[in-house]
Amino acid sequence: MSFGLSRGRDFDYEGFGLTQSDLPDPESGGVDPRSWFTDPARPFELEIGSGKGTFLVQHAALHPDTNFLGIEWAGEFFRYAADRIRRHRMTNVRMLHADATEFIRFWCPAAFVDVIHLYFSDPWPKARHHKRRVVQDETLRSMHRVLVPGGELRLVTDHPGLWSWYEEHAERNRRLFERRAFEPPPSAGDGELVGTNFERKFAREGRPFQSMTLVRLD
Ligand SMILES: C[S@@+](CC[C@H](N)C(=O)[O-])C[C@H]1O[C@@H](n2cnc3c(N)ncnc32)[C@H](O)[C@@H]1O
Repeated sequence: MSFGLSRGRDFDYEGFGLTQSDLPDPESGGVDPRSWFTDPARPFELEIGSGKGTFLVQHAALHPDTNFLGIEWAGEFFRYAADRIRRHRMTNVRMLHADATEFIRFWCPAAFVDVIHLYFSDPWPKARHHKRRVVQDETLRSMHRVLVPGGELRLVTDHPGLWSWYEEHAERNRRLFERRAFEPPPSAGDGELVGTNFERKFAREGRPFQSMTLVRLD
């Protein structure tokens, strides 16, 4: 299925986008995504489901000394976002075409991520599809493993069912994470929580949003 994002031009993401074929066999020891950046010692943030890459373009521009990895599994959105990041010459951002939950669980080392951003994740409203939601007990355990102590998982949604799901999972995993209020980042516009494409679309429809930050406990 095409979303018509290319408008007839070829995307070019050379040097800014990685695909599954760039990843080693996870059994061979995985990969350290910090090595994909010019300065691997910088703070590291990860966005799951970057869509068109709007959050990364806005937020990473204000944090040139932090490395950002956006993970997007829809090929067309991955290519669009990676090409957009190349056009903005954002050397502190890379896009990865992968299932973020698998990448975090099977490829990533422990304790290297300062912040995981998860904004307007697909709600999968039917009960039989809940297992496809990004937040699960297992993914929270994986995220806890890759976050540094004190690192944050930042969540925003418009969907009441997904919000209840987040609240239940936060409660059930309170030995791993402390729940705190969500503070909008400086890249958010006036009245925005984050300023992603979906937030702007849903705000025009008058939908309310819910948010929380989960802080990794030791
Ligand atoms: C509803 S969109 C929101 C996009 C963006 N965060 C925003 O707020 O505008 C959710 C995005 O997450 C991506 N996605 C869903 N599950 C994913 C996963 N496990 N790994 C990577 N990307 C995922 C989808 O392909 C989609 O582009």
